[in-house]
Amino acid sequence: MKKIYFGTNLKMYKDIRETKRYLSDLEARTRDISRAEIELFVLPSFTSLPDACRNTDRRLIRLGAQNMCWEEQGQFTGEVSPLMLQELGLDLVMAGHSERRHVFRETDKEENCKVRSALEHGFTALLCIGETAEEKECGLSDASLRGQLLAGLDGIWPGQAPDLWIAYEPVWAIGVEGVPATAEYAAEKHRVIRCCLKALLGEAGAQVPILYGGSVNPDNADEFITCAEIDGMFVGRSAWQAQTFEKMIRSALAAARRAGK
Ligand code: PGA
Repeated sequence: MKKIYFGTNLKMYKDIRETKRYLSDLEARTRDISRAEIELFVLPSFTSLPDACRNTDRRLIRLGAQNMCWEEQGQFTGEVSPLMLQELGLDLVMAGHSERRHVFRETDKEENCKVRSALEHGFTALLCIGETAEEKECGLSDASLRGQLLAGLDGIWPGQAPDLWIAYEPVWAIGVEGVPATAEYAAEKHRVIRCCLKALLGEAGAQVPILYGGSVNPDNADEFITCAEIDGMFVGRSAWQAQTFEKMIRSALAAARRAGK
């Protein structure tokens, strides 16, 4: 029985009070689901993190940051350091979300610095990768994914693989304008990613969870999760109401088990 991953990035939504309410609701609603079966994580805003950490049972919901500076301290106005996140006792740090890459123009090199720093500071690192619509149209999706993995995981060694997660999120599938990938397309790209992870990390690369994200919703989650290649769901909008997320988790988990995962 494989553990199924379910996570949400709250982006720049939900203030402290709303985040606390959301987390306690999600915790209560999913408490009875064995954590041997699922890994559930939430990435709240920076301002909500201290309260989120104080009020959440971390055996039930792992908490992470949506971004992090790779340096421990220094002249980096507006950034948040790994030491500051360690102070909160966070579980994971995300790097390379599409909005960081495309709205804030972060580079593969920067994502790599963040992944390395997150791992060195004891966090699980969640690296997001995905091709743009233009790359897809030009038949460059696989090359783009390989490039983002090669650059993003530069200097990472197999011993660090147990603390590494990958989210495959096609840029064209994310957000209100996004069109979800078909399950077949997502599964095909997950195979490309798995192959690349094995080439980079050897057998350790076979164990790294690969999550699909990009307009996951209650109508398509079951189909994605029944694909053998897809280890979990990384959800935006459809997870921001605890009740909807809970339903999606229960339904997808049952679908995964029916599919023999
Ligand atoms: P979405 O967001 O599910 O709202 O498309 C996904 C993401 O940005 O990770």
